[in-house]
Amino acid sequence: MAVAGSRRMIWAVEMAVIVMGLMAMASPTMQLSMKNPLQGAVQKINDLGLSVYAIIVTATSSEEAFNESGIFNPDSSVVCKGRTFLLGTIYGRKFVFVNSPDSPAINVAITMEILADKFNLLGIIYFGSAGALNDSLSIGNVAVPNLIGSTGLWTWQPINAPKEGLLKFGEFNYPEKGENWLGSVQYDRSTAYINGTFKERFWIRVTPEWQKIAEEICEVDSVQVVHGLRISSADTYVNNEAYKNFLYNTFKTSVVDKSSVAVALGAYTNELPFILFNGVSNYANGSDVKNSTLANANAVKVLNRFIQRLLLPVPASYDDE
Ligand SMILES: *[C@@H]1O[C@H](CO)[C@@H](O)[C@H](O)[C@H]1NC(C)=O
Ligand SMILES: *[C@@H]1O[C@H](CO)[C@@H](O)[C@H](O)[C@H]1NC(C)=O
Ligand SMILES: *[C@@H]1O[C@H](CO)[C@@H](O)[C@H](O)[C@H]1NC(C)=O
Ligand SMILES: *[C@@H]1O[C@H](CO)[C@@H](O)[C@H](O)[C@H]1NC(C)=O
Ligand SMILES: *[C@@H]1O[C@H](CO)[C@@H](O)[C@H](O)[C@H]1NC(C)=O
Repeated sequence: MAVAGSRRMIWAVEMAVIVMGLMAMASPTMQLSMKNPLQGAVQKINDLGLSVYAIIVTATSSEEAFNESGIFNPDSSVVCKGRTFLLGTIYGRKFVFVNSPDSPAINVAITMEILADKFNLLGIIYFGSAGALNDSLSIGNVAVPNLIGSTGLWTWQPINAPKEGLLKFGEFNYPEKGENWLGSVQYDRSTAYINGTFKERFWIRVTPEWQKIAEEICEVDSVQVVHGLRISSADTYVNNEAYKNFLYNTFKTSVVDKSSVAVALGAYTNELPFILFNGVSNYANGSDVKNSTLANANAVKVLNRFIQRLLLPVPASYDDE
């Protein structure tokens, strides 16, 4: 996937040449007309002139943390389908930032698609808050997962189904395990667009090249960064100790959130590298202790360090693959 950026860039240049040719033929009134079918293409080419990294978040608290960090210098914005895309620079490089609606995560996927259609992207960076499933994580830690499992794809089986699903409601009866009319839930795999075809996958892998860049960040400003963990992602918000333990024990997932899988599948579809920074804001166990401000502020610290490393000149062999 490291190659994707440069392939897309070549395509962008070719597109720009074609559309500029067409623009030369079109009259000025035609170019300005909102009804002109070329309009979209012209708009896109304007944006395509530059290749940018995208940062996507799905909460106001994330946007606030990003603003407060002061790392981003916005210089323009474009509104598309109700989403505001801020263009600007970080350490002199062009970035586009968007705070997407979520709930359900399909909204995030739509934002991903707009991003990929509208900008010549070099990759996608997501950050936000997440719940901890792993007891060795604390509020304020930042997880950089390597695998994302979509744990909201359920086939809900009846009681006494010949083949029970992994989540058996009877095992959660209180005060004693037993039978339960809710039966069981079988977890299905995601359909992911990988290398030109759709494949069934339970785990979606974060871009290894980017993960490697992030792996050397162990601590930033006394924020603990945890690498190589798995994340559960689903539209269901988890704040229940029994289900928290079930997810951790069954899938060995250490954090849970709602947006990551949409970002991952959107990045795969567009053959773009991507990475996730999930700041721990709560324990997903019914406790009302929560600090999204801290989780996002810490995620931004790690994001900042990652961007510094990402923008370092890379050995030529890396680029030319
Ligand atoms: C963040 O900064 C941008 C650009 O200055 C501004 O438009 C936006 O309203 C700010 N967001 C928040 C949540 O403060
Ligand atoms: C896509 O194909 C390349 C080359 O065959 C391979 O190295 C890469 O691992 C594949 N990507 C995925 C996500 O399977
Ligand atoms: C839980 O987190 C700890 C500390 O980060 C890690 O070493 C351990 O492997 C994690 N457990 C699982 C199942 O991933
Ligand atoms: C939730 O987990 C945290 C951290 O392990 C713990 O301190 C807290 O007591 C737990 N709360 C509940 C309601 O189980
Ligand atoms: C969140 O954490 C910050 C930094 O530790 C602290 O100043 C703030 O009071 C906390 N907020 C809540 C709601 O606990």
